[in-house]
Amino acid sequence: MTDQRIYNFNAGPSALPEKVLRDIQSSFLNFNGCGMSVTEISHRSPEFDQVINDAVARAKRLLKLDDRFHVLFIQGGASLQFAMIPMNFLARGQSADYVNTGTWSTKAIKEAQIQKKEIRVIASSEDRDFCYIPKNIVVDPKSRFVHLTSNNTIKGTQFASFPDTGNVPIICDMSSDFFSRPLPMDKFAMIYGGAQKNLGPSGTAVVILRKDFLEAAAGTPENQELPSMLRYDNYAQKNSMYNTPACFGIYTIGLVLKWIEEDMGGLEGIEKYNQEKARLLYDFMDASDFYRPTADKDSRSLMNVTFRLPSEELEKQFIAQATQEGLGGLKGHRSVGGCRASIYNAVTLEGVKALIVFMEKFQKEAA
Ligand SMILES: Cc1ncc(COP(=O)(O)O)c(C=O)c1O
Repeated sequence: MTDQRIYNFNAGPSALPEKVLRDIQSSFLNFNGCGMSVTEISHRSPEFDQVINDAVARAKRLLKLDDRFHVLFIQGGASLQFAMIPMNFLARGQSADYVNTGTWSTKAIKEAQIQKKEIRVIASSEDRDFCYIPKNIVVDPKSRFVHLTSNNTIKGTQFASFPDTGNVPIICDMSSDFFSRPLPMDKFAMIYGGAQKNLGPSGTAVVILRKDFLEAAAGTPENQELPSMLRYDNYAQKNSMYNTPACFGIYTIGLVLKWIEEDMGGLEGIEKYNQEKARLLYDFMDASDFYRPTADKDSRSLMNVTFRLPSEELEKQFIAQATQEGLGGLKGHRSVGGCRASIYNAVTLEGVKALIVFMEKFQKEAA
């Protein structure tokens, strides 16, 4: 077998930096000279302590976090966070505001409703099938938090900047644009995301949580009654090792963060790179009357570029032919159809250019 690779535009799990994959490969049998694989060592060992502490330190440096924040790794993906957030942070008599920008926000809202928590949906883009980011978001000043989804992976929309929410902190699902740009961390009580798009393998959520926000919630009687594995304070007190963590995932996330920090110029550098890739692709489509981006121009995602062709038949041919030519993962989400190129951090400029060359050729042949 060769290790010939294709250009990977999958939405998640998705492309990882080739350098990271090679690092994993070369040290897989003997991690740091300990004679064991990183998947074979104890999570209580000094070797793993170094792995997790390095990943935390890198996340903090990249986001310019001070000591006010915890960096946690929690199993169960972003979907478990949908449930844990209202469970931990909404005590009796407290309420939260949610903004609905698509499937993932809808799921977050549903998890709060299942628990009969008091929440309000203060803005939504459902009226136009989630093709835009709502403006004029007005938050109830008594709200405990406002929940946003920064990037809508399925419909290809993204908050270009975050709304002014006054004194109400934001909790944000950043599963599909985590660590792709610098963030105004003062606005957030918590940001979180499943790792499998920009950061590593699936199965781990990275949770960045403000300590005072956690402390205020951890004292409530409701919190004392939660199962141990569903309480953020347990993860915070035990450096994410209340139980055996997803060691391999955390190790890989650490390597991806190292790559962003040391090879890509940090979040400022990776943001420029991501902007350039997205600009090339959108400019190409805007100049064509064949490919039609589905999101409103001012709401377009730099991570998930969703588009349609003149017919479903042509879309089918486009996806099949692209796959044959080494451009994978271009099928839109099964709930919406169409096409989607996910151009996360690890997707190269070279890959985006190759995609544009293919798109030009396909258009000519279809004419
Ligand atoms: C924005 C967003 N939130 C949440 C999820 C769910 O993540 P997980 O599968 O880790 O639960 C996804 C998955 O694609 C997503 O794109």
